[in-house]
Amino acid sequence: MTERLRWGILATGWIAGQLASDLRVAGVPVTAVGSRSLENAQAFAQAHGIPRAHGSYEELVADPDVDAVYVATPHPMHAENALLALDAGKHVLVEKPFTLTADEARRVVDRAAERGLVVLEAMWTRFLPHMVRIRELVRSGALGELRTVQADHGQRLSADPEGRLLNPALGGGALLDLGIYPVSFAWDVLGAPDRVLALSSPAATGVDASTSIVLGYPGGQQAVLQCVLDAASPVTAAIVGTEARIEIGSGWYGQTSFRLVAADGTVLEEFEEPVPGSGRQLQALELERLVAAGRTAGDILPPEESVAIMGTLDEVRRQIGLRYPGE
Ligand SMILES: NC(=O)c1ccc[n+]([C@@H]2O[C@H](COP(=O)([O-])OP(=O)(O)OC[C@H]3O[C@@H](n4cnc5c(N)ncnc54)[C@H](OP(=O)(O)O)[C@@H]3O)[C@@H](O)[C@H]2O)c1
Repeated sequence: MTERLRWGILATGWIAGQLASDLRVAGVPVTAVGSRSLENAQAFAQAHGIPRAHGSYEELVADPDVDAVYVATPHPMHAENALLALDAGKHVLVEKPFTLTADEARRVVDRAAERGLVVLEAMWTRFLPHMVRIRELVRSGALGELRTVQADHGQRLSADPEGRLLNPALGGGALLDLGIYPVSFAWDVLGAPDRVLALSSPAATGVDASTSIVLGYPGGQQAVLQCVLDAASPVTAAIVGTEARIEIGSGWYGQTSFRLVAADGTVLEEFEEPVPGSGRQLQALELERLVAAGRTAGDILPPEESVAIMGTLDEVRRQIGLRYPGE
């Protein structure tokens, strides 16, 4: 039995509420929440049955009854907030994208290593049952030699130019909010690309409204990835090999089903294994397992891979000319 970590939630926005609900459903203890506003922290604590509310992030990370902090702020704040928690001696789960840049990611991962703490990117997709089974199938050779990966992620999101999704100061844009999923998926299946090609169309605020990416691999494989933030795409993904392919259903990055289909069209496997809630609790349980095992990096998403993925996103941004304030 893994020893229970006591969680603190840093920020009170949309995704913070999602994880709080999932942790509650899964019986994972959340002892405190911290917000820039005490009033918001108190309202969040009440809504999610959390015993303690703090009116600052500093007070949250200093709470002796918190072992691990979940960082749920906008992307440009991830590094600063993660460092704050690490410096207070807490393990950290950081929302996706891990940081704004690979340089920031490097700093966070190095600090965690110096302090012997776990830092994990909250790329929850990796921990869902269908992705666990997909990795098994790919590694077993069931698909033959891999040839292509396809994944799209388009959502019709808020059109508020001041909001997090379009505002450059808050790390807006399709790539970092939505494109991170297909890019991380391609990394999961095919590893490190040796070529990156990107094309993008800007929104009125200057961030990317849609971005298409082709990744090339030393073995000749290709990944074709897309994201768009003002239109709902099919949100499907596929892994294509010489013997068979995996077709992941709509909403592929969340809980869904997939089919393993032979090259002649025969369906070899249909997989669906629901877990309670949205399934985001699984990433917190992975962090808990790592701490219990005395490890700082797991096999499913080691922190070095989060740094490398930020490197791919940096390269895409270089090609599409997307810079954030202060860069
Ligand atoms: N895993 C997923 O499925 C998923 C889904 C959506 C978003 N995310 C990620 O989670 C992060 C937060 O997204 P969200 O949709 O939850 O955003 P949100 O609803 O806007 O919430 C962000 C929270 O961050 C805090 N914050 C700190 N500085 C801020 C600032 N300058 N401006 C605005 N808020 C600030 C605020 O909490 P306080 O006021 O309490 O301090 C705010 O409520 C993003 O990095 C995003 O990529 C992940």
